[in-house]
Amino acid sequence: MSDPREILITSALPYANGPIHIGHLVEYIQTDIWARFQRMRGERCWYVCADDAHGTPIMLKARQEGIAPEDLIARVAAEHQADFADFRVAFDNYHSTHSDENRHYAGLIYARNRDAGHIARRTITQAYDPVELMFLPDRFIIGECPKCGAPAQYGDNCEACGASYSPNELKNPRSAVSGAVPEQRESDHFFFRLADFEAMLRDWTRGGSLQKEVANKLGEWFESGLQEWDISRDAPYFGFEIPDHPGKFFYVWLDAPIGYMASFQNLCDSPRGQAAGLDFHRFWSKDSKAELYHFIGKDIIYFHALFWPAMLDGAGFRVPSAIFAHGFLTVDGAKMSKSRGTFIKARTYLDHLNPEYLRYYFAAKLGPGVDDLDLNLEDFQARVNSDLVGKVVNIASRSAGFITKRFDGRLSATLPDPALFAQFVAAGDSIADAYEQREYSRAVREIMALADRANQYIDEQAPWVLAKQPGREAELQGVCTMGLNLFRLLIGWLRPILPGTAEDSEIFLQAPPLTWAALGEPLLEHLIAPFKPLMTRVEPAQVAALLEASKEDLSHQSVPATDKGEVLVQVDTSAHLLRDPIAATIDYDTFAKVDLRVARILAADLVGGADKLLVLTLDLGGETRQVFAGIREAYNPRDLVGCLTVMVANLAPRKMRFGVSEGMVLAAGPGGKDIFILSPDEGAEPGMKVK
Ligand code: MSP
Ligand code: ZN
Repeated sequence: MSDPREILITSALPYANGPIHIGHLVEYIQTDIWARFQRMRGERCWYVCADDAHGTPIMLKARQEGIAPEDLIARVAAEHQADFADFRVAFDNYHSTHSDENRHYAGLIYARNRDAGHIARRTITQAYDPVELMFLPDRFIIGECPKCGAPAQYGDNCEACGASYSPNELKNPRSAVSGAVPEQRESDHFFFRLADFEAMLRDWTRGGSLQKEVANKLGEWFESGLQEWDISRDAPYFGFEIPDHPGKFFYVWLDAPIGYMASFQNLCDSPRGQAAGLDFHRFWSKDSKAELYHFIGKDIIYFHALFWPAMLDGAGFRVPSAIFAHGFLTVDGAKMSKSRGTFIKARTYLDHLNPEYLRYYFAAKLGPGVDDLDLNLEDFQARVNSDLVGKVVNIASRSAGFITKRFDGRLSATLPDPALFAQFVAAGDSIADAYEQREYSRAVREIMALADRANQYIDEQAPWVLAKQPGREAELQGVCTMGLNLFRLLIGWLRPILPGTAEDSEIFLQAPPLTWAALGEPLLEHLIAPFKPLMTRVEPAQVAALLEASKEDLSHQSVPATDKGEVLVQVDTSAHLLRDPIAATIDYDTFAKVDLRVARILAADLVGGADKLLVLTLDLGGETRQVFAGIREAYNPRDLVGCLTVMVANLAPRKMRFGVSEGMVLAAGPGGKDIFILSPDEGAEPGMKVK
């Protein structure tokens, strides 16, 4: 047997200013499944993470709550870790970027890059909030992307086109702290010369271990030229002060990925790390033989695939073996929404449902690429109930009763169908390959096909018939032993996904923790414990209660700073429009409840099977909505993109045959080809209230 691989894997470090939600969990569950799979295979796999505790959002949030940032991050760290533990995300170490280890490595990586000439100092003019008396951090300036023109983008990178830029390149900026138009002031900043690393990065990309989407992205970025990266921020800032420059701080994204190292160092220094003989340099030195993988969302590829390897290389450390990027979670086909109750916090989920259900559902949907995945709540219930409860657990419950009642819990000494068992064991190779390649949906598909086969075996052998026929005891015991051994293989293969159910199954089978190697040998002449239900069905009422508990009253939420000016809607009341009699009057208060907003049309698409409709993606100054509008005859979808319109922003979402419509666009005109929905693009901005 070959030596075990040494693997260090990470998930992105969640920001310490908000709770974990089910979108985050896609990543932590994806990574945890991979880590558990590797451990089951006997590899030496270490999974570390930490809270990302620095930056202005955290500083401002603490200020808002009237507490010190240290207190805020301590509270959130405890909440995050409780959420992860309850979802059975089993980190080997969970640390914080606000830690001694991280201060050490941030200082070291900075100093080595500086000494090697990769850091430049320049005076820049930067956005300054004259009301709050502070330089505005990237994420607190909102404006249009300088590359693609997408509206309502933050100042560091564009969610629409993925471009990374400096905040003063944004068009039409506003301070998100005070709403003021930022002033330009001068300040000295430090820059990381990313272009110094182009050859190294191109080499790394060609190495063939990156996902094709990530490699393509890198290709695009090389094409457009690698820009210097601003790694410093002025006080006031919650972070690490730059050692040789008092009053200047490392930008949060400089020390965030270094947090991976810090957490690993902290693990090396722990009793567990010491006992395992972990050595920091064995994993991070340039000639390291260990594998290093970062699981991340597709929104942070730029930081992980360019800055991070470059910083490491510049400081004499190894670069990652690969970056594993995943897509974003939608719920019932739409972005998670607080008003619809689909912005589901990890804790709220746990209050209502078994975490193993969500782990299974995500696994069933996750592939190796960056495609987004949808949590469809009906499909979720159907799959959990039919696959896990109806197929897998059912095999155990159909076989266990007879073994307990008729054979004192003892399994037979041989298998009646060793060929079938061998066929199952052989299928394990392909399942292992699927896990290794992060093709979890394929692993699940293959396991469920075998679960069908196992149920078919029991149906054919009909132990309940054997049980009634005297003299067929040995056969009955054999068939049930066979059933339980097939169940053991299935739950063993599902173990990375369902650690809790697998553990309960190990107790039931009285078997040591299932490893891939152990699965090759059947359990024979062995005593099992009495069967207890391993998993219950998801009830529709539980899902309804979860959505209800996740609904938040949004009427008190502050609207972003763009809620300032006014625009007029001019309504054409010429007689030919009034085909229908005017409805009964409503009082002013009722009218005032209608929240009319200026929205920018980000995308307009045809709707298959509906020749009168277009589906519009609308930007409301930070929030996007999907709205179906009966304007197909009036507009060529291409002509709408980028234009402004007026919409009812607080109309309750409606489920239509083609999807959920999240509002309504106002239109004027006689109908058919003559419908007008556009507002002049002057003085109006997305999110603006219409009065
Ligand atoms: N703090 C940074 C990461 C620093 S890593 C050195 C950050 N934090 S985050 O809390 O915003 O996101 C943490 C991870 O969760 C990211 O990889 C992000 O892509 C992922 N997700 C956040 N929302 C998500 C979905 N709705 N769907 C899938 N993944 C999501 O970014
Ligand atoms: Zn853009």
